[in-house]
Amino acid sequence: MAAAVISISSKVAALAALFVVLAMSAEAASPNGGWLAAKATWYGAPNGAGPDDNGGACGFKNTNQYPYMSMTSCGNEPLFKDGKGCGACYQIRCLNSTHDACSGRAKRVIITDMNYYPVSKYHFDLSGTAFGAMAKTGLNDKLRHAGIIDIQFRRVPCNYKGLSVNFRVQVGSNPNYFAVLVQYAGKDGAVVQLDLMETSKATGKPTGVWTPMRVSWGAVWRLDTKRPLQPPFSLRVRNGSGKTLVASNVIPANWKPMTDYPSNVQFPN
Ligand SMILES: *[C@@H]1O[C@H](CO)[C@@H](O)[C@H](O)[C@H]1NC(C)=O
Ligand SMILES: *[C@@H]1O[C@H](CO)[C@@H](O)[C@H](O)[C@H]1NC(C)=O
Repeated sequence: MAAAVISISSKVAALAALFVVLAMSAEAASPNGGWLAAKATWYGAPNGAGPDDNGGACGFKNTNQYPYMSMTSCGNEPLFKDGKGCGACYQIRCLNSTHDACSGRAKRVIITDMNYYPVSKYHFDLSGTAFGAMAKTGLNDKLRHAGIIDIQFRRVPCNYKGLSVNFRVQVGSNPNYFAVLVQYAGKDGAVVQLDLMETSKATGKPTGVWTPMRVSWGAVWRLDTKRPLQPPFSLRVRNGSGKTLVASNVIPANWKPMTDYPSNVQFPN
């Protein structure tokens, strides 16, 4: 979402920057790497979670609540990664050499939304809360007043403490179209592949065949089939290191759209 604070002239700059971005290789910021330079802006309410509905282009809801706690951000493409960056965690900080309200302390944010008008190679369009969190105590508003600042960032593990990987079946899902939002994949935060296993009608046992799903939008993965899918379904989640987790029969025979199906599996921290 474009930050309201960006002026017309910086929108022109944003377009120019976009060409630079497209010309550069969009290599991902690697986990546990060093600090990289980025620009930060903010949007939504000063003490909000970004969008007024506490959602965003990843499809997560209630981003003002645990585990997001309004510490959320839009990422431009090298961060959002067509949805495969959704749920990933970054530390951000701004230095007092940049702005005298900056504390220099690192704060963790989660990618929950997409930034369509990047002003630099890496652009965090932060919630008002997250932008202000980079300030010295009591200077959150002063820092937000800057509107756009240089920051540093690095990929860090997520801490989805007390949560297991959650699957939320999406509206419109039916036996020939199954769409599911994946949340809280521990440590990596993001999911790079999701596969589905059906149950054999004949034996009542898992078929043993994993069918790849594909990103529909944000953190929502989908599978379209001519033949009706046979539940219960097991789902296999792959993280950025290629490690997989299997949530066996996590989607029951009587599954319904718009329903959460928490798994009992999580990537170890
Ligand atoms: C910036 O931080 C340095 C190191 O912590 C400190 O010495 C300096 O006084 C700070 N400057 C401002 C303007 O806060
Ligand atoms: C993927 O999960 C494994 C644990 O199963 C973990 O050791 C690894 O660090 C994770 N990868 C990333 C990129 O977080």
